[in-house]
Amino acid sequence: MGGTITHVLGARPNFVKAAPVIRALATLGFAQRVVHTGQHYDERMSEIFFVQLGLPRPDVNLGVGSGTQARQTAEVMVGMEEEFTRTPPALAVVYGDVNSTIGASLAGAKLGVPLAHVEAGLRSFDDTMPEEINRRLTDQLCSLLFVTSPEAVGHLAREGRPAGAVYFVGNPMIDTLLANLPVFDAAAARSSHGLGDRRYVVATLHRPANVDSPDRAQELVSALHEVAAELDVIIPLHPRGRATLEAAGLLDAPRVRVIDPLGYLEFMSLVRGASAVVTDSGGVQEETTLLRVPCLTLRPNTERPITVTSGSNRLITRDELAAAVLKACDDGPYTGELPPLWDGHAGPRIARIITTWLKAA
Ligand code: UD1
Ligand code: UDP
Repeated sequence: MGGTITHVLGARPNFVKAAPVIRALATLGFAQRVVHTGQHYDERMSEIFFVQLGLPRPDVNLGVGSGTQARQTAEVMVGMEEEFTRTPPALAVVYGDVNSTIGASLAGAKLGVPLAHVEAGLRSFDDTMPEEINRRLTDQLCSLLFVTSPEAVGHLAREGRPAGAVYFVGNPMIDTLLANLPVFDAAAARSSHGLGDRRYVVATLHRPANVDSPDRAQELVSALHEVAAELDVIIPLHPRGRATLEAAGLLDAPRVRVIDPLGYLEFMSLVRGASAVVTDSGGVQEETTLLRVPCLTLRPNTERPITVTSGSNRLITRDELAAAVLKACDDGPYTGELPPLWDGHAGPRIARIITTWLKAA
């Protein structure tokens, strides 16, 4: 196939979404290039995903690292401008809603690089989240908009994006989940965390609104301690909130276990065996939907409402947490319908559409 496709990856959720797309394009014989911006860089936040998901080694790592919103985005822009100038692709693919996504899109658009956005059109309508700004702007810059959930089509139409650019393809994060389902080992996860036969809850927390302020962190810790009075709570903790949550006393409860971020396979194994999950993650709302594990999301809104209407997800406040977790554990797994096209074939759909689009370009 003529022309290289460049994938821009930067943060943990990008890796999980990109793996099936890169694999499907490789099957069709495309030349591909993987650029890692370096937004996430710890071994547990980056390298382990490349190994476990069979992602190709990045051709280049921009080494952007951490910084303020503007600095991090700007460094991605500068790095991607150099990258696109040196190695102009036939198409660049960006993923999700992180600063690497918008930084790469801005750099590419100004150089005339055609862009595709995987996970286009999701909206929380909450402009206090940097991700919402990243999503809306990225979608304005991309020629191909790959949608994971039907309501996103309407959001893109209302923002003036042409219908011909929008493709509802299903969810590549769910492709990754279904491809690895046979190796998620809940019994091994139980045993490695010493859980015996007890019911347990998994919690993941990293949103600024929950973990950045000492006061909010204090309220969150109290709520988690209430849960831990009844159940074991295992927290593979994102590095962002660790210091604040620990300073707020997170570890001062015998049934709270804080561990380093887990590799994808270990994380999903632990989630699969959980009675409930407490989270503020985007991806975890989707994965628990597919696994039918009750999910309590500590946010006032979600860009993934389908996980509430066709999934096990519920939005809750910190005050509601303990009662909601106990009820969810008693109610048991979600048994309703699942979102349309979350069937494990999003990657091949995206690859076919890209093939046709490149032929016509
Ligand atoms: C970013 C995304 C968020 C996504 C999350 C996934 C933006 C604006 N936010 O948030 O949408 O849900 O990734 O995990 O792009 N850190 C480390 N090691 C690392 C990476 C980060 O210690 O490998 C720490 C640093 O202290 C850093 C902080 O985490 O300052 C925040 O990292 P950053 O990438 O800026 O944002 P996230 O909170 O990870
Ligand atoms: N994840 C993981 N180990 C962990 C926590 C998360 O492998 O300890 C995976 C999981 O598949 C999740 C994805 O990383 O969906 C992205 O997680 P994160 O919550 O960081 O990002 P978000 O989806 O909120 O942008």
